[in-house]
Amino acid sequence: MKKISAFLIVVFLATSFYQCKTSKESLISSPKTLPFSSRVSALLGKMTTEEKIGQLNLVTPGGAVTGSVVSTDVEAKIKAGNVGGIFGIRGADKVRQAQQIAVEQSRLGIPLLVGMDVIHGHQTMFPIPLGLSCSWDPALIEQTARVAAVEATADGLMWAFSPMVDIARDPRWGRISEGSGEDPFLGSLIARAMVKGYQGNDLAAKNTLAACVKHYALYGAAEGGRDYATVDMSRIKMHNEYLPPYKAAIDAGVVSVMTSFNTSENVPATANQYLYHDVLRNWWAFNGLVVTDYTAINEMMAHGLGDLETVSALALKNTVDMDMVGEGFLTTLKNSLDKGVITMKDIDLACGRVLTIKEQLGILDDPYKYCDESRQEEIMSQEHRDFARKVAAESFVLLKNDKNVLPLKKGSSIAVVGPLANSRRNMLGTWSVSGDFEKAVTVLEGFREVAAGTGTSISYAKGANISDDPVFAKKVNAFGEEITIDKRSPEDMISEAVGLAKNADVVVAVMGEAADMTGEASSMADIGLQPSQVKLLEALKEVGKPIVLVLYNGRPMTLKWENEQIDAILDVWFGGTEGGRAVADVLFGSVNPSGRLTTSFPVHVGQIPVYHSMLNTGRPYRGEEASKFKSNYLDIPNEALFPFGFGLSYTSFEYGDVVLSAPSMAKGGNIKCAVTVKNTGNLEGREVVQLYIQDVAASISRPVKELKGFQKISLKPGESKRIEFTIDESLLSFYNTDLKLVSEPGAFKAMVGPNSRDLKEKAFELK
Ligand code: NOJ
Repeated sequence: MKKISAFLIVVFLATSFYQCKTSKESLISSPKTLPFSSRVSALLGKMTTEEKIGQLNLVTPGGAVTGSVVSTDVEAKIKAGNVGGIFGIRGADKVRQAQQIAVEQSRLGIPLLVGMDVIHGHQTMFPIPLGLSCSWDPALIEQTARVAAVEATADGLMWAFSPMVDIARDPRWGRISEGSGEDPFLGSLIARAMVKGYQGNDLAAKNTLAACVKHYALYGAAEGGRDYATVDMSRIKMHNEYLPPYKAAIDAGVVSVMTSFNTSENVPATANQYLYHDVLRNWWAFNGLVVTDYTAINEMMAHGLGDLETVSALALKNTVDMDMVGEGFLTTLKNSLDKGVITMKDIDLACGRVLTIKEQLGILDDPYKYCDESRQEEIMSQEHRDFARKVAAESFVLLKNDKNVLPLKKGSSIAVVGPLANSRRNMLGTWSVSGDFEKAVTVLEGFREVAAGTGTSISYAKGANISDDPVFAKKVNAFGEEITIDKRSPEDMISEAVGLAKNADVVVAVMGEAADMTGEASSMADIGLQPSQVKLLEALKEVGKPIVLVLYNGRPMTLKWENEQIDAILDVWFGGTEGGRAVADVLFGSVNPSGRLTTSFPVHVGQIPVYHSMLNTGRPYRGEEASKFKSNYLDIPNEALFPFGFGLSYTSFEYGDVVLSAPSMAKGGNIKCAVTVKNTGNLEGREVVQLYIQDVAASISRPVKELKGFQKISLKPGESKRIEFTIDESLLSFYNTDLKLVSEPGAFKAMVGPNSRDLKEKAFELK
């Protein structure tokens, strides 16, 4: 008993096709019976109503992670059979203790599903997902998920609340950091890769875990970029632009789905029949587990859908199986059953799906299969750290490099300044709940290590606070002191940095956002550098030495002034455990940067949303000067500062003309689209060759361009390669006004280039 009570004290680690009728009828109709295994059906047969409802309850035992409510009396509830799963605890020993309570002390001994927010790595942290996506390398990303699964399962876990695949085109939204950016084609490939990485080919293996695609659906389109806010979009836009990555995860075999907090068409996702009944369950035939997001059922009361009993019944009727933390299911479903608002079949379906995932994971046979203490050494192994270093470098995007300031020359004198140069606390980025920032390497440390013995002189000064505003800092510091306001005055700090700059050949300014300036509930109206940091840059600029800005950020930022004034800008997102070494690898040139943006960087927040696949207006603005009656701003440009797909290299590439194998293709056929790319610089480098397509005339207005293919290639100096894409009907299809996936005969354009702006094109026809 003592051991078990101790468990509760130590467990605190919880950090935080078709279109169906959207009518009231489907609210009261139950979905089809699922083919549960004989084992699950037999288990269901032995369970009381209360035990079945208990399986639908997902608890977290301590610490307000992502909401203000935390589960209480967890141990007693597990014993009483009132808990189906737990999240926010880890460690083979701790999970074993929790599992023992369920297995040895509850009537039926059904083991718990044990989950965690494993988002961009488990303990070995990789770059934040937005950074990872900039590698444009799904195979590499799959491997990061594989490593995360190995570490998480060695740490007692069997369920990861990832991948987050919400398309996001509003950088004010802090959670843009958690996804793969603005594009559904790339987003779908990454969604699939991550599911494969987590789940492997065999969910029952010891080192694979259940993935959970989230947040279904449309969470990334929150009004004004405010977290949790309303989403309202046409179904055409939904199906063509926002739903594909979730669908890709389903097609890849993901076994669970998490609801989203937002409304869609005025109904919260958790009770949204169109999204769940009609699309997810019927159209896409998803039979796996649906779990709510944190207290999402309860939050439907604030959305104005009724009391807890009403909203809980709505969620269950909407084929939601598990209630995360809110206990609406636990406390009200029996009443709803007695009143006939829900049926025993509804409960059986939900409970059967919870038991099925437990069966698939193999814990019904071996509840302790993820509690193997001897696997500890698999966590944060040197191999994983080395891999994390490589991956981090792959995520960096070189935005500017005037006069080849980069790579830095070894043997020179470098002033490393800025509030993020040596801030271990900020290296991992948001959603690194199991990551230990104490084990992260800072940029300064990376520099000293990589430059050691080369005669390079490195000096350091903090130079500025991330922000001088204590009220802002307090909000950002909810999980720990990420913004430290120095005792010295801003002027003193700046003057120290300026002093170092005067004696250096080059200044490396490591600046940007604190880790939790993005992530959940971290919306920002101003997405530029904080004034404290701009002041430092201005002072450094006056010194007259070349300046390299190394930018830590979880969102696209507005960098107009920086782009005009600073010599080189390397966007390093939040690179994870090995981020500091990776920054040094790239700045000193042992790795040539090859990351490309997966979100457009606006010139000004007033442009938002700015993304590459916009529809044309009837009055398109094509950069003409002084154009009245065109779709443009009077005071800012239309175009992004750095477009989707953009990123430089230390070498240069030249693109030949686009060559098509034929001027037209038949439905069911294909054409080849080729281009020759040459490395015209002096260094070996990698390039992401991108294919975009425009459907020039169709039954609905179609985007001016959509990403439809890419290849990441490596070229030696002087080397040329012919890159070929196959364009088939699937790349030309879209959901029409009847939400049917169609391709329509007529004119198309194929465009190829290094980013979504600088493209060469060729017309073709679909017959
Ligand atoms: C809320 C977040 O929206 C979700 O992404 C996360 O998985 C859960 N909380 C659990 O922490």
